[in-house]
Amino acid sequence: MEENTKKTVLSCIQPSGALTLGNYLGALKNWVAMQEEFDCTFAVADLHAITVRQDPQKFRAQIYSTCALLLALGLDPEKSTLFIQSHVKSHAELMWILSCYTQFGELSRMTQFKDKSAKHADNVNLGLFAYPTLMAADILLYKPDFVPVGADQKQHLEIARDIAIRFNNIYGDVFKVPEPYIPKVGARVMSLQEPTKKMSKSDENVNSWIAILDKPEDIMRKFKRAVTDSEARVCVGEGRDGINNLIGIYSAVTGKTADEIALEFEGKGYGDFKIAVGEAVVEELRPIRERYDTFISDKKQLEDIYKQGAERAFYTARKTASKAMKKVGFVL
Ligand code: TRP
Repeated sequence: MEENTKKTVLSCIQPSGALTLGNYLGALKNWVAMQEEFDCTFAVADLHAITVRQDPQKFRAQIYSTCALLLALGLDPEKSTLFIQSHVKSHAELMWILSCYTQFGELSRMTQFKDKSAKHADNVNLGLFAYPTLMAADILLYKPDFVPVGADQKQHLEIARDIAIRFNNIYGDVFKVPEPYIPKVGARVMSLQEPTKKMSKSDENVNSWIAILDKPEDIMRKFKRAVTDSEARVCVGEGRDGINNLIGIYSAVTGKTADEIALEFEGKGYGDFKIAVGEAVVEELRPIRERYDTFISDKKQLEDIYKQGAERAFYTARKTASKAMKKVGFVL
């Protein structure tokens, strides 16, 4: 059967606030493409999101919204398994088991933990500390060949691999040790206002980031205000972070190379270029927004999709969790 010969992929995304153009060009656009080549499992990581405080009502709305957006982007429940992490109980279950095979010292070294505990100094909770162990459970339950992760999650994938190897060394071949997946194309999208920083939805300056669901006029305004430099030449150059970022975005959306872009805008000013980038992004995101509106307004359909996804996910997850528990010596 064709399905059995495909390599498998697992990834998750947190439902915490608006997803940005950075999430889209850096990760989600690749998820959509990967569905053709791989047998993919994608989850909305709601359990991870409560490591920082969430307003219950907003949180619930964001979980729905993230599901609808993933569908709008083109993730296809016929091709991939899509579900909400907390619906598959094996994640929390295996996480406990794995936490007994994760060392305090190695979790203390995680840079994201250090950053987040500095940022949320009044709430450095156990969940925040154990976050990578939950992520290891997410991954190892599905025995994926590949896990697409951005630079900020590489350390967490490393620890998942270490935990898998450690567990396998004691109990035999229980978990598959996954490889990181580095996409062929992908853009690291930077802030439009401070282009040395990654584009982030937590940035207070709303002009620095584009949400996937932003209105066309907002997208245009943000690109028109994007920070550039005084050279007034559209071409990639060392230290030209603003213009490099805009070229990167334009290239990721249009498929044109940096050289082709330089040629296209030779003799033209930044004003024209910014408008072209804005328009290209507006056109790329327009159909996504339209599809989002149809998915989010049909709760019943959304529910059918994520429930079916959870059932399918649980089938695989349960087997792995049971095997691990049996090896440890639990009575099943
Ligand atoms: N921690 C990831 C992030 O914030 C999300 C995530 C949770 C994840 N579980 C995962 C990513 C498993 C890959 C695999 O981006």
